[in-house]
Amino acid sequence: MMKKVFITRKIEEEVIRELSSKFRVEVWPYEDQVCPREELLKHAADSHALLTMLSDQVDEELFEQAPELEIVANLAVGYDNIDVKSAAERGIIISNTPDVLTDTTADLAFSLLLATARRIVESADYIKQGNWQSWSPYLLAGSDVHHKTIGIIGMGEIGEAVAKRARGFDMNILYHNRSRNQEAEDKLHASYRTLDELVAESDFIVCLTPLTEETRGMIGTAEFSRMKNSAYLINAGRGPVVDEEALIQALQDGEIAGAGLDVFEKEPIDVSHPLLSMKNVTAVPHIGSSSVETRRTMMELCATNIARVLTGSEPVTKVQ
Ligand code: DGY
Repeated sequence: MMKKVFITRKIEEEVIRELSSKFRVEVWPYEDQVCPREELLKHAADSHALLTMLSDQVDEELFEQAPELEIVANLAVGYDNIDVKSAAERGIIISNTPDVLTDTTADLAFSLLLATARRIVESADYIKQGNWQSWSPYLLAGSDVHHKTIGIIGMGEIGEAVAKRARGFDMNILYHNRSRNQEAEDKLHASYRTLDELVAESDFIVCLTPLTEETRGMIGTAEFSRMKNSAYLINAGRGPVVDEEALIQALQDGEIAGAGLDVFEKEPIDVSHPLLSMKNVTAVPHIGSSSVETRRTMMELCATNIARVLTGSEPVTKVQ
């Protein structure tokens, strides 16, 4: 009997076709709708592999009901939606999609930084709404980016790729990380700082750290109070790393100048959320790795990992 693969979202036809040549593939048929929990559990019950999105909770309850499961291939570099410890206890392999999305995600993080500093979204709305009366000296004046100090929290591959872009803008590069990144120091002239030092010295604080028990709420009231009033917070990592209540307060009190956000505590964020009505907040819906080319490559990598594990080989990008 063919092994079963369940894909929790409609993905590239060709990737599905390729997997279908070797396995019995079933797909949640919508591109823009999360696979309901009960459907996921139902399919997991007789699946050997799951290809999941970061919006799927893959936890102990699921593993308990999935006796055949060999691999969960997550279509993301982050895997905070998966209980990896519980998977390891059961010998279930978890794979993610690092490397292939590094530059695309760094492009988005840096665009968010530029858009926030130079008020691009506000300016685009302004002109489209017919508000432009005359050229004026301080019309929608923003902040310079070039020659400023960027502080990168989470100096992994994406952090390094952001630092590379910052070098092109002649920025002074600081970083904070669990451990020192000698390569970033040598090649990118990045200087290590403690978190307290980094938030106090940076003009742009770019958060890229994965979500773990240690990083949850890492940027809160104390960190915002240390930031410059002219500083911008950019979050392209995971929403819960920033305490959103504290961010709202900091923006309302003028403790920082603005924020560029790709990720939120709750996704999708509610349209009535206070952050979405603030002019100095540029918000986009978790599109870090969302280019057509990169998303396709991520799908192919997930399919490769699944095919390898189900035929007795090691996956290319194993989380644990
Ligand atoms: C990831 O891969 O973890 C990103 O957040 C997706 O955009």
